[in-house]
Order: sequence, then structure tokens, then C-alpha cells
Amino acid sequence: DWTMGAYRDEMIAKIREQVGDKKVICGLSGGVDSSVAAILIHEAIGDQLTCVFVDHGLLRKNEAEEVVGMFRDNYNIQLIHADESELFLGELEGQSDPETKRKIIGKLFIDVFQKHADTIEGAEFLAQGTLYPDVIESVSFSGGPSVTIKSHHNVGGLPEKMGLKLVEPLRELFKDEVRALGRELGLPQSFIGRHPFPGPGLAIRCPGEITTEKLDILREADAVYIDQIRKHGLYDEIWQAFVAILPVRTVGVMGDGRTYDYACALRAVTSVDGMTADYYPFTHEFLGETATRIINEVKGINRVTYDVTSKPPGTIEWE
Ligand code: XMP
Repeated sequence: DWTMGAYRDEMIAKIREQVGDKKVICGLSGGVDSSVAAILIHEAIGDQLTCVFVDHGLLRKNEAEEVVGMFRDNYNIQLIHADESELFLGELEGQSDPETKRKIIGKLFIDVFQKHADTIEGAEFLAQGTLYPDVIESVSFSGGPSVTIKSHHNVGGLPEKMGLKLVEPLRELFKDEVRALGRELGLPQSFIGRHPFPGPGLAIRCPGEITTEKLDILREADAVYIDQIRKHGLYDEIWQAFVAILPVRTVGVMGDGRTYDYACALRAVTSVDGMTADYYPFTHEFLGETATRIINEVKGINRVTYDVTSKPPGTIEWE
């Protein structure tokens, strides 16, 4: 006789028991998982919780403002907005290997957290919105689960040097259960329904070397693509949709002139838990219209492709 309401009460009791009167820091990514974790923990321990929202410079268009706004306007949660984009983008400069990029981001995240943890007196716990699929599909920096597909920066095995114990209230849940819990906690449907966004952000949607130029182009193209999907009423049917900017320029024609700009790939998949996925069967009409809009509205892109790979054998992200 299991309900989300009962699960929520059980988790609140567990969090109180684990944390006692100590303080907790929670990394807020703007995604559903960390948001639900933060609100659940806030219900359990109130002002013993401080959230840290790290802007690594790899967020989508307007994302930082939207997330910070939502938490400031709707919840009474203490929130540090850390703009660390220069640090991250500086360290990532010239790096093109996918795992190296992930490791740099993961390590910096820990450093940044450490820095903010040190400013919060008595903080002994770090909260994370780790889900069950993350637990079984990832590898930590210091060893961990044996099945290694990608190193998810927000999972397990934080270096001892950080000196914080983990609070992971969503560790037993799948995505659909986290959404149900979010509804139980009163999060707006528009927020709960948001597509998942990976911790390393746009870094893994920009295969190869990351530049601010590519990131800017990617943000614009992604915004147009998501707008198209919403306008056609498809957003809720899709598990995840995003643009990847490809590390290649191709030749095109525009008016009387020749262009030599980036190619991009559109990705959209259906999935239940992110562990397997099917590419979304858009109509050719939708794809053609979207390609035209992106090329017309986004300076720097002159070719649009659609990724028709399912998972397996592909992954959802490009890196
Ligand atoms: P893949 O690309 O492995 O992605 O098929 C499966 C799901 O996981 C998300 N993902 C991540 N989430 N940190 C995260 O928080 C990560 O490093 C990471 N890598 C992938 C991805 O967006 C998809 O929902």
C-alpha cells in the first residue's frame, strides 16, 4: 500500500535522523532531480539547508535567471548563486576528449562546492539528487559501481578531502517517481515536466573543443528547437530534446553568397528512465520547418541534421 505521500514522510524522517542539527549544502542544477531533493530536504530541516547554484557557463539560454528566480520567488530556501563560468571555461579551453572534459567539470564542481561549503559554518552534509539509474550506470572518481559507461559528475565517491557526508534522498527512485514526488511537494507542473539536463551541461552537447562562440550558437539553436517542439505540442511526449553543435563547418549558400558555418544535430528521444531510448519520429514537415528556422534565425549555423540513433547503441547525449 505504497504512496508518494508516505514515501515523502518516510524520507523526511530519514533526513532528520541522518542530519540531526547539522547543516546541509545542496547543489542545485536547475533540473528536476536536484530541485526535488532540495525542496524535500528543506521540508525536513528548513534553514539548516543552503543551496548552491553553480553557473558553470554551460547552461542553456536564460537558464540561470529562470532557476534562481523560481527558487527565490516561490521558496524560502537560502540560495548562493555562484557564477563560476570563467573558471570552468578557462579550464576546459583546448580540451576535446569527452572523459577529460567530464573529469575537469566534475573536479571543478567539487572544488567550487568545497569553497562554498567552507563559508557555511558547521556544514557537514552534501545533498545530491542522485537517482537509481545514475547509481547503476556510473562510475565515481574514486572507484565505485562496476558498470562504467560515463563518469557522471554528480554521483557517489566524492573525494574524502571534501569532508562532507552525502544525503541522497532520491537514490531509490526512477525519473517518473521523482516527478510524482515533486508534484507531492507542490512543484509547478511546468517545472516538473522539464526535460532532464545533464550536470556537465552544454559541454557534452558540444563535441570536441568548447568555445564561447560555439556555446552561444548552441544556446540560440537549442532555444529555437525547443520553441518549435512546444509550438507543435510535442514537448511532453519527448523525454529529452536538444541541439548538439558539431565540430565541423560546412559550405552552404545564402542569398547570393557562400556560407561556411557550423553544422548541428537535433536530438529527441522517448524513454522511460534514460537507460534505453528511441529516437522521436518527427514528421518531415516538422524537421524541414525547424531546419529552416534554425538556419534563418541562428547566425553561425548553415546545416541541420537529425540524429536517428536509438539507445543502445547510441547514448542520448553526444559525449
Ligand atoms: P546518456 O547520454 O548516457 O544519458 O544516454 C542518459 C541520461 O543521463 C543524462 N546524463 C547525465 N546526467 N550528469 C547528469 O546529471 C551527467 O554527467 C550525465 N550524462 C548524461 C542524459 O542527459 C540522459 O538523460
